[in-house]
Amino acid sequence: MPVPPAHGAPPLDRALLRRLGFSAATAAFQIEGARAEDGRSRSIWDDFVDTPGRVRDGSTADPGPDSYHRVAEDVALLAHLGVDQYRFSLSWVRVLPEGRPNPQGLAYYDRLVDRLLDAGITPTPTLYHWDLPSRLEADGGWLNRATAERFAQYVEVVADALGDRVRHWYTINEPVSTTLQGYAIGELAPGRTLLFDALPTAHHQLLAHGYAVRILRGHGATRIGIVNNHTQVLPASRSEEDLQAAYLYDLVHNRMFADPVLLGRYPDLEPYVSALPVHDGDLALISAPCDVYGVNYYNPTTVAAAAGPVPFEVVPTPGAPVTGFGPLWPIVPEALTAFLVDAKERYGEALPPVVIAENGASFPEPDQVDGPLDDADRIDYLRGHIGAVLDALRAGVRVDAYTVWSLLDNFEWADGYTQRFGLVHVDMATGRRTPKASYAWFRALIEEARS
Ligand code: NOJ
Repeated sequence: MPVPPAHGAPPLDRALLRRLGFSAATAAFQIEGARAEDGRSRSIWDDFVDTPGRVRDGSTADPGPDSYHRVAEDVALLAHLGVDQYRFSLSWVRVLPEGRPNPQGLAYYDRLVDRLLDAGITPTPTLYHWDLPSRLEADGGWLNRATAERFAQYVEVVADALGDRVRHWYTINEPVSTTLQGYAIGELAPGRTLLFDALPTAHHQLLAHGYAVRILRGHGATRIGIVNNHTQVLPASRSEEDLQAAYLYDLVHNRMFADPVLLGRYPDLEPYVSALPVHDGDLALISAPCDVYGVNYYNPTTVAAAAGPVPFEVVPTPGAPVTGFGPLWPIVPEALTAFLVDAKERYGEALPPVVIAENGASFPEPDQVDGPLDDADRIDYLRGHIGAVLDALRAGVRVDAYTVWSLLDNFEWADGYTQRFGLVHVDMATGRRTPKASYAWFRALIEEARS
């Protein structure tokens, strides 16, 4: 079946599409529900959602899509979609609720992995997608180096339990979001407002990544990567102030998290970098070679100079259409190509094949549906961005796979259920799943790529 062109756009190049693996992603806290079942303990996200006023619609992620009880249904949706891989995350507080392995928590991921393998889908779990155990936050969370060591113990347990069947792993998801939104400005858990004093959390998460790579290699993993959130940074004007603000934003958002992993050094961000709690040997561990480099990409970021303790601010991107998040989530697919081409130039051979580990969009959609939603705007978004990946391939960037965020509508962190990203609509009151038009479109695209 030919891929239906969205809104008259030219069809995507099948020869290039064939070079990509296709995947869909979710994360434990966003889909599992069952927060108090089978011995699970609490994470910083449990604390966050249970604090009135933190989540926009007051929702708590439970039951949400209730994937803890719906493994068979979710895997059937993935199998019908035809994806090669499924990116999900493991919940640290299910696996090691009190610092000791929890057989019931591990059994859930065992079932999921086995069902995926039976369906011919490669499991590509993420070890950490933001749900830090509360007991570790009480000791400083990611500000404390010991958290990276606790993480290594958790990775050992997971690798022992699943490493016989799972060979492909993502380590840490979007450390930048945890540092900037979690510890610097407090929009995400744990809700701290430390501004630049949050930067040690970057180093400790990267250290956790380094430990994970070492442990997973010892368990025979063949494809390991971190997942960084990246954005193409655009200065709001050509003024010296805005150019400098954009340069600084690029350092803080992109290079602080990419350079240590890919080059073994932090970028020149003084006085903060000199103050990082880096020990001898840390950077060698953090930059141990990986097989892929995960990139989550949603939008470019236009940055202007600002007065105050943080010398930059994010402003709307002139002339760009926007997603359900409004003016600060502009839709500019070409910026993804530009980011990938720039990354290839900046990192050269140090950049392993890129996996687009998340890309997608939310648009205003109803809580209940009585049939497939015609989400043409999401199809346009996906089509544009997959086209942008193909342009990057044409420009010589090595891209290995493309992952849609998300398989399911889910709990969008501080935005609760107000932002829906799924290829599949989920009625949060009943858990009922209804594939949208974008699900059929993505399925047809994968079928076309494989034909
Ligand atoms: C990145 C995060 O990894 C994911 O959890 C989130 O839902 C999406 N961005 C959309 O905001």
